[in-house]
Amino acid sequence: MFKANQNYSILPESYLFSEVAKRIKEYRDSHPDKEIVRMDIGDVSLPLPQVVVEALCNASREMGESATFHGYGPEQGYLFLREKIAENDYHNRGLLHIDADDIFISDGAKSDLGNLGDLFGPDMRIAVAEPGYPVYVDANVLAGRGGRLADGRWSGFTYLECTPENKFIPVIPDHKVDVIYLCYPNNPTGASMTREELKKWIDYAIENKALIIFDSAYEAYVRDENIVRSVYEVDGAEKVAVEIRSFSKTAGFTGVRCGYTVVPRSLDFTFPDGHRASLNKMWNRRQSTKFNGVGYIIQKAAEALYTPEGRKAIKENIDYYMRNAGLLREALLGKGWEVVGGENSPYVWTAPKLHSSTAALTSWELFRRLLDDLQISSTPGSGFGACGEGWIRLTGFNSYEKTLQAIDRLKTLK
Ligand code: MLT
Repeated sequence: MFKANQNYSILPESYLFSEVAKRIKEYRDSHPDKEIVRMDIGDVSLPLPQVVVEALCNASREMGESATFHGYGPEQGYLFLREKIAENDYHNRGLLHIDADDIFISDGAKSDLGNLGDLFGPDMRIAVAEPGYPVYVDANVLAGRGGRLADGRWSGFTYLECTPENKFIPVIPDHKVDVIYLCYPNNPTGASMTREELKKWIDYAIENKALIIFDSAYEAYVRDENIVRSVYEVDGAEKVAVEIRSFSKTAGFTGVRCGYTVVPRSLDFTFPDGHRASLNKMWNRRQSTKFNGVGYIIQKAAEALYTPEGRKAIKENIDYYMRNAGLLREALLGKGWEVVGGENSPYVWTAPKLHSSTAALTSWELFRRLLDDLQISSTPGSGFGACGEGWIRLTGFNSYEKTLQAIDRLKTLK
C-alpha cells in the first residue's frame, strides 16, 4: 500500500510566497479598479541585459546546427562557466583556494538550498537563523528533521534569533548543532555581517565539526568593504562551509534560472561508520543521480555576465535597485519606523515604532493594512519565522517609478 510522506501533512499548507501571492490575487479580484504596487517577493523588474539576450540567441542558433548542437551536458555544469566563476568571483577577489572543480552550476539557489539536505544524516541537529528564508526550515521538515510544531517553531531545530537587540546577527548557540544555515547579506532583514562576526561561526563549526550552509545570493549588493561577500573570506571556511549563489537578483535571471553552489574539495566529514566523506564527491553523486544539469543556452547566457558588458550591466542593475532600497529606507526612517537593511541589501525590514497607547499589529495585520489602505503588497515578517512577528519586508526590486509611488502612499499612512 502506498503511504504518502507524512511530513507533508505537518507542514503549513502553503509556502510563504504562494500564500502572499494568493492573498494579493484575492484582493485584486475583489478590487479590480485598484492598482497594487508590488513590494513583496524579491522578483526583479529590469529586463535581461542586452549581452545576455545576444548570448541566448547565439546559443539557440548553435543548438539548431548539427555541428554545434549540445545534448546532455556535464551534471556539474560546463567548464567554460565554472572557470569564469572561479576566476572572477573568487580568484580576482583573492580567494585562490576555490577552483572550477569546487563549483556546481544550478538552476538557482532555491533548489540547491532545498536539495543539500540529501547529504545530511537523518538525525542531524539543524540551526537556522530566524527570521530566515523559509526553504531552510521547510526542506528539513519534509526530510523528517522537524520534530513537532508548537507556536510556530519546530522542536527539531535550534533557532538562532536575530533581533534588534543583537542587530540581527545571531549569537553562537550554547549547545552543539550539526548544520547551520546563515544568509548574509540577510534575506529578509537586509542585515549584513563583518568578517570578525563570521569568524566566530567558522571557529564554532571547526570546533564542533558542524557544516555551514552559507546563502550568499545577495553578495553583489554589498558596498561596504568590511562586510562579508563570501564565506571563504574567513580562513578555514573551506573546511566547513558550502556557499550558494544566484544570478537571479544580480542579472535578472529569476525567470531564466541559473546559479551555483560551491562545495570545496577540502570539505571532509565522516560517515556514521567512521569513513571519511568528501562532500564534494557526495554532491557530485547526488547531482548525477537526480539532475541533468542546467541547459547549455542558459549557461552561455550566464557566461556573458563575465564579459565587460556583462559586468557593467550587473553594476547598473544593482545601483538601480539599491537606489530604490535607499529611498525606501529613508522614507520609512522619516516616518519614524524601525528600519533595517537597504544599505548592503535590496531588502528593507521594517515595523512601526510602538507608542504606549498603541497595540502592536501582527505582521499579517500590517500586510493587510498596507494592502487595504495603500494598495502596497509586502511580505509579512512572521512568514520568515516567529521572531519576525510584527515586521514586514519591502523590496527594492520594483521599478524606480513604482518605488516612488509606494513611498508617496506610505507617507499618507496614519
Ligand atoms: C524572496 O523574495 O525572498 C525570494 O525572491 C524568493 C525566492 O528567491 O525564492
